[in-house]
Amino acid sequence: MASVPSLASTLQQQLADALTAALPDAGAADPLLRRSDRADFQANGILALAKKLKGNPRELAAQVTAALPAGGPIKDIEVSGPGFLNITLTDRAIVETLAARAADGEGRLGVPLKDDAGTTVIDYAQPNVAKEMHVGHLRSAVIGDAVVRILEFTGENVVRRHHIGDWGTQFGMLIQYLIEHPGALKHEGGAGDAASDGEAAMSTLNRVYKESRVLFDSDEEFKARSRDRVVALQAGDPETLELWHRFVDESKIYFHSVFDKLDMEIHDPDIVGESGYNDMLEETCRILEETGVAVRSEGALCVFFDDVKGPDGNKVPLIVKKTNGGYGYAATDLSAVRNRVQDLKADTLLYVVDARQSLHFRMVFETARRAGWLSDDVKAVQLAFGTVLGKDGKPFKTREGETVRLEDLLDEAVTRATAVVRDKAEKVGLSEEEIVENGRYVGIGAVKYADLSTSAVRDYKFDLDQMVALHGDTSVYLQYAYARIQSILRKAGDAVPAAHPELELAPAERALGLHLDQFGEVLAEVGAGYEPHKLAAYLYQLASHLTTFYDQCQVLSPDNAPEVVANRLFLVELTARTLHQGMALLGIRTPERL
Ligand code: ARG
Repeated sequence: MASVPSLASTLQQQLADALTAALPDAGAADPLLRRSDRADFQANGILALAKKLKGNPRELAAQVTAALPAGGPIKDIEVSGPGFLNITLTDRAIVETLAARAADGEGRLGVPLKDDAGTTVIDYAQPNVAKEMHVGHLRSAVIGDAVVRILEFTGENVVRRHHIGDWGTQFGMLIQYLIEHPGALKHEGGAGDAASDGEAAMSTLNRVYKESRVLFDSDEEFKARSRDRVVALQAGDPETLELWHRFVDESKIYFHSVFDKLDMEIHDPDIVGESGYNDMLEETCRILEETGVAVRSEGALCVFFDDVKGPDGNKVPLIVKKTNGGYGYAATDLSAVRNRVQDLKADTLLYVVDARQSLHFRMVFETARRAGWLSDDVKAVQLAFGTVLGKDGKPFKTREGETVRLEDLLDEAVTRATAVVRDKAEKVGLSEEEIVENGRYVGIGAVKYADLSTSAVRDYKFDLDQMVALHGDTSVYLQYAYARIQSILRKAGDAVPAAHPELELAPAERALGLHLDQFGEVLAEVGAGYEPHKLAAYLYQLASHLTTFYDQCQVLSPDNAPEVVANRLFLVELTARTLHQGMALLGIRTPERL
């Protein structure tokens, strides 16, 4: 089954053709079609065109109207105000288009694939080895996962990269400690499931980190041995590398347990951390120096920018190689750019990283452009996200001022959500097993939705009470909307959803239908601008249209003619599939019974 153009796009095309027919000299012109309260749609594009051609916009509007084909989706069109077109569609066109969408056998709900698909390498979910994950890592993972799903749905080829922090001076300290205390990384092991294994792994890493730190700060000789160990690590000394691997592996157990909890799949081959670019660092710096992109300054290899200055007015460089010969974060990121463009053939590089690293990425991208690693054909974008705040509006911390452990936070969300689910469970007849499963889906969904429903770059308040509220713009509201439809479909008995284009639609049915019609366009926009919050907003509006529809239109009423029942079942079923698809693209589950 091919994709199904939306009514809005069909209409847009017809208007554009009519514009060209009425005004052959005007060239391609955009009718500027929008949804409107006056009618179904309003087209405002004629005003600008009339101005350009020095014509009378109302006359021009009448000409365009006359050039529209008869028998199309338009029921009524009128010229209003200075020269707008108000357009009302036929009920038949609405139901027929939706029916074609519902019949799409590929499960895409008729949503077209974009025709300019390319390869995007997305850098997201990048925690640091031997360190606990915090809410910033949560944001990168949640936003990145949604963007991956959305881009893949639009047809983009997506390569995932988890650029974990697994390289650098602190590993000298950790490895040296392990050499001197060989049993340090052994732990009791968890109860055998991912979550408890992960917790055990983290508490071991935490202990080793703290112990080695104490020694590092108090013992000058240990400090010196640690520094030598960094050199051995970067030189590829086998014994050192083997111990380093044990830290990385232990950390991966922990990462996987957190991602599991988040109901998110991360694959080992996509975990290419900072260490993965180690072999390229020297060459990266050599090219930068030979081409003059980087220059020596006070012993370090630096790239300067006219518009990047410190408070003292002096230029602040991007340091690619430090005075002591060590390579830093920037050299790694520049090497990763080379790898992603040259080897992975990316035409888009996307980085889901905290807004506080924006200057770093601006300098990295500019450096890569000067070096020719980024050409005009390659787009590099930081999808920068804001800070997670506590209820008090300050960066999210425990009462003691420490960073909040991500697992604790997710557990708390699930506990609260389970209580909400349990409250209603008896009425719905849920088993204990279903309560536990739904509690997870609602709790994790709540955390993801809260993150995804505001534009990424804004800070947002982490407020669990608000996140699991049944009303308002929350995931559980959307999950209930979905489950309620499933319950109606179960109750429908012999009545089967079927489109009946011959029926006249009630206003609430039309509004719901026209909103459903927009799904594909919303996804295209969301994918092009990396804006999952627009998908969340669309789904929330969809659920709101559904609520109005229920208020005004009974579905299974004995007073309804059978075809009205069938048509309404058809509308709610398509709504359910759209909710399910949309939520899945945000990484959120929709339980059948809630
Ligand atoms: N590991 C880093 C952090 O925790 C994020 C890495 C972002 N990605 C990158 N290519 N620099 O802040």
